Amino acid sequence: MNVPTKIAAGILALAPVGALAQECLVDGDPSELEAEAVSRIYECIEAKMAEGYAGNGDPVGAEFRSWHVTSTRPALAGPHGERFLQTFANGIAAEQYLKFADDGFTMPAGSVLAKESFKVKKGNAVPGPLFIMTKLAVGGAPEAGDWLYAALLPNGKEMKIKQSFCAGCHMNWEDQDSLAYPLEEVRLSSQ
Ligand code: HEC
Repeated sequence: MNVPTKIAAGILALAPVGALAQECLVDGDPSELEAEAVSRIYECIEAKMAEGYAGNGDPVGAEFRSWHVTSTRPALAGPHGERFLQTFANGIAAEQYLKFADDGFTMPAGSVLAKESFKVKKGNAVPGPLFIMTKLAVGGAPEAGDWLYAALLPNGKEMKIKQSFCAGCHMNWEDQDSLAYPLEEVRLSSQ
């Protein structure tokens, strides 16, 4: 994604010295990185991601980092475009989400899950979209399990998406209220 120079310069001016301009170099095949290496890349890129998602005034983009993190580190999952993913759950969603239950529940209305993402391009980690799911009241979106799907670009602007595209895949997890959950090896349990 090309950020217009004027906006990029504006974001850089707000950043702590060096934090955003800095590159996050990745050695070797991203799918073979050790957990510790992924955590180091995340430490390098997280401030840049957070600034970007918050950069256009979207309330979820500005707040999700104060919610409950649901994994020990970002992990590379196949869906969502070979990106490293890390999901945050808001106060309404956290208790149920962190059980990673596989049936017999419906998330409370007002639950919001926000999933940050980054990708490795030419040996450098770069921010990807923030993917968002919001649970509506019963009947709010019957064809999508009452979930509203949204996404923000790395600069915090709303990304144009199709509900049917997101829901079409997430409905594969219908028994667990459309939730796919982080990879098992990185799940943070609530116990
Ligand atoms: C091809 C299947 C697929 C499509 C299409 C898809 N997702 Fe996902 N989504 C997944 C999988 C698998 C996960 C769990 C992966 C992970 O977090 O490690 C996930 C996780 C999520 C989560 C975290 C909550 C959860 O399910 O545990 C959000 C939020 C999310 N997706 C939003 C979206 C949005 C918004 C779109 C459309 C722009 C979308 N997804 C399209 C497969 C898909």
